[in-house]
Amino acid sequence: MADQYARTPDGEQPSRPGPLRWDEPPEGPVVVLLDQRRLPAEEAELVCTDVPALVEAIRSLAVRGAPVLGIAGAYGVALAAARGYDVAEAASLLEGARPTAVNLGYGVRRAAEAYKSAVVKGADVRQAAAAVLAEARRLHREDAEASERMARHGLALLDELLPGGSHRILTHCNTGRLISGGEGTAFAVALAAHRVGRLRHLWVDETRPLLQGARLTAYEAARNGMAHTLLTDNAAGSLFAAGEVDAVLIGADRIAADGSVANKVGSYPLAVLARYHHVPFIVVAPTTTVDPATRDGASIEVEQRSGREVTELSAPLAPATVTGVTAMPVPRAPEAASGVPAALVAPVGTRAYNPAFDVTPPELVTAVVTEEGVVSPVTGAGIAELCARSRQV
Ligand code: MRU
Repeated sequence: MADQYARTPDGEQPSRPGPLRWDEPPEGPVVVLLDQRRLPAEEAELVCTDVPALVEAIRSLAVRGAPVLGIAGAYGVALAAARGYDVAEAASLLEGARPTAVNLGYGVRRAAEAYKSAVVKGADVRQAAAAVLAEARRLHREDAEASERMARHGLALLDELLPGGSHRILTHCNTGRLISGGEGTAFAVALAAHRVGRLRHLWVDETRPLLQGARLTAYEAARNGMAHTLLTDNAAGSLFAAGEVDAVLIGADRIAADGSVANKVGSYPLAVLARYHHVPFIVVAPTTTVDPATRDGASIEVEQRSGREVTELSAPLAPATVTGVTAMPVPRAPEAASGVPAALVAPVGTRAYNPAFDVTPPELVTAVVTEEGVVSPVTGAGIAELCARSRQV
């Protein structure tokens, strides 16, 4: 992909390209993804021509992160409608692709509802497809706006909690432009701080096992000219102990009615560290990530992924062939004569515990920042009030 990034006058290189777009080449409509499995090595596009291909792209993390999963799901329904597939079946396939991020089901259902309501109003197939595409585009735009507002609220909160500050922020996983219609969630707050000269340093957790921090956040931080340093997840403790962290900023995949936060595995240990070291632990997420229908943390379904992601370093970066997808060739791990992948990091047959997410209880969360404002302290009542404000209940 050509480097089409415009440089801003001060030399900052925006964290483009975006994670996905709708396109209509002569062969028919497609959803085009920036293949995040290939980053940072290359910015390769993955063209999904059908819903099973998009579902596989979601499962294998070519597109990932809660808000953009909702947008991808909505475009997936639009793809089904435009190509004349069974929309209800497509919606159910898409919604089932990954269980934890509530945004995926939200985006899919919103698009499917738009389709249904167009049909009920007497739209023909083409008109119904246009209605669902318009809904997907609306969700995409709304997410961009939400991102901007979260960045504003988040920056104001940082300034309030850390007055006079030039902030040293620790973040986990990837929450920037790659997961959003805009600049992201937690990363967008750090970026806003950077733009006003108040980000002293961004500490980037590598985020085992799939390295979203190392591969994606470091890539986005570099693109935006932010001072940053990568650390292994288990180095965070000594960083706190050295007094090098002023605040933790993370995103969320689902926030339950009681304020429990599901996010990338490794978030909960950071919350415990932050509490011990009296450092604010701030969650930044759009209201579409708040799920009043999930009562508490124990009710959140945490995705369990293949142990191979832990035992083989190459596994996430060498996806199986996906049908209906046009992609650049993916480099596979070289295999020794024995057939054992060169990147095997544990003895053959080792079982691995590989939850993709963990759950942080509300009492460890200093604040939840949304586009509708800040919830702090984080309680069931605060979340209910937020939901009422954003008309989700
Ligand atoms: O497994 P992933 O890469 O989809 O997990 C993503 C995260 O956990 C992000 O932190 C989360 O979606 C928040 S992004 C707003």
